[in-house]
Amino acid sequence: MGDFVPILTAVASGTFDSIENVFINIARHVPLLNNLRRRKELDQCLSGKVCIVTGANAGIGYATARKLAERGAHVVLACRSEERGRQAAKELSGLPPLPGCEPGQVEFAQLDLCSLKNVRAFTKSFNRQGRRLDVLVCNAGIMSPANKLVTEDGLEMQFQVNFLSHWLLAHELLSEQRKRRAKAAKKNHSSSSSKPNRKSSSSSSTALTTASISGSSMQSSKAAAADAAACCSLEGTRLVMLSSLTHHAGSVQWGDKQSANGYNPFTSYALSKICNIIMAKEFQRRFDRHDSCRYGHDSAVAIHPGIVHTHLATGFFTQTGHTALPFMKALVAPILNGLYPLLLRTPESSAEAMLIAATAPAGKVAGRYMHNDRLSRPDKFAEEPARGVELWDLAVALTGVATDASLA
Ligand SMILES: NC(=O)c1ccc[n+]([C@@H]2O[C@H](COP(=O)([O-])OP(=O)(O)OC[C@H]3O[C@@H](n4cnc5c(N)ncnc54)[C@H](OP(=O)(O)O)[C@@H]3O)[C@@H](O)[C@H]2O)c1
Repeated sequence: MGDFVPILTAVASGTFDSIENVFINIARHVPLLNNLRRRKELDQCLSGKVCIVTGANAGIGYATARKLAERGAHVVLACRSEERGRQAAKELSGLPPLPGCEPGQVEFAQLDLCSLKNVRAFTKSFNRQGRRLDVLVCNAGIMSPANKLVTEDGLEMQFQVNFLSHWLLAHELLSEQRKRRAKAAKKNHSSSSSKPNRKSSSSSSTALTTASISGSSMQSSKAAAADAAACCSLEGTRLVMLSSLTHHAGSVQWGDKQSANGYNPFTSYALSKICNIIMAKEFQRRFDRHDSCRYGHDSAVAIHPGIVHTHLATGFFTQTGHTALPFMKALVAPILNGLYPLLLRTPESSAEAMLIAATAPAGKVAGRYMHNDRLSRPDKFAEEPARGVELWDLAVALTGVATDASLA
């Protein structure tokens, strides 16, 4: 019974989501409805922004990278296959920009989330280049392989690819960004405080009056406020963690994260997806603990991007459980193939929600969970701060990385 409720909640949420998809897919063909649904975040240009999208050679990641590049962003496609990554970069390079935006830039960088060593090599290389990072989309994922797979690091593959490697990626990239911003803020502060203050030097005159004293201190407090405002305008990085409404079943596997007591493809996927919500919230708590005038306004959001017509989703319906049996597959696959365009979102439509998650003002989305393009409440299990600390400590232990002081 204990396991039944979370699994049923996930299945029921999926059913409601598919019904919503039917309306969305119909509305796409009605211009008036389409315009009514259009959000203003979709109309902004992103020139000068640097974005990394993991798993950007296919599905939602590819469509998201396209939306970012069309708006003028510099997009790093972090993909495990050099061939597929370069092909995607070729297709997305030279896209005509949206009206009013500059052309975007697209590059491929190799990243295999099955290997912690490979993740470290990626972050080292990016950090060494001294580049800024505006958006990190932790998108790559696998769903419910029929049999338990173990990575070279000895971990259940969905746990590592979907969650742990993305945690490491975010930790290493964000701590570097935060360190650099803190250095720059310190430099700004010391150069502005070493500038001679004309008012205060004139105020050293012996003919100092009470009025001139208060005038001078008003001036210097104005200067201090301007300094603070300049430092506080330090933009941060937006961290977008891909979750799924299947996260409602994630609590079932919480006590056995490596499926040591038996492997269930669905609940171990769900576990990785609830971990991503818990982690987005934990990152946000850590950002909020530190001075954003020093480290910048970093923000983290988790998102369920819809049930989307991609390899991952269609593979799940025909390769997991009873439908994986050859005779069932032969029966079910043709029916599903006919229904997908109605019941599943297009990757392009899902990428609009992704763009909102990546660019909406931090005040609106920081530390929140989005269901498609709107804010929502995740499963209560994901809201408990103690779980964030527990998962963070586990990630530290499994990766051997010490938490950076800027994220303590
Ligand atoms: N589709 C849905 O209905 C749905 C619903 C909720 C959440 N999501 C989430 O959305 C995200 C994207 O899924 P999708 O539907 O777009 O799936 P997809 O079309 O199968 O794309 C998955 C991407 O992840 C990459 N990837 C897989 N293993 C990797 C690894 N070890 N290292 C680096 N990249 C790896 C894949 O690369 P290769 O091409 O090399 O395999 C591919 O680029 C996933 O996190 C998924 O959990 C999807």
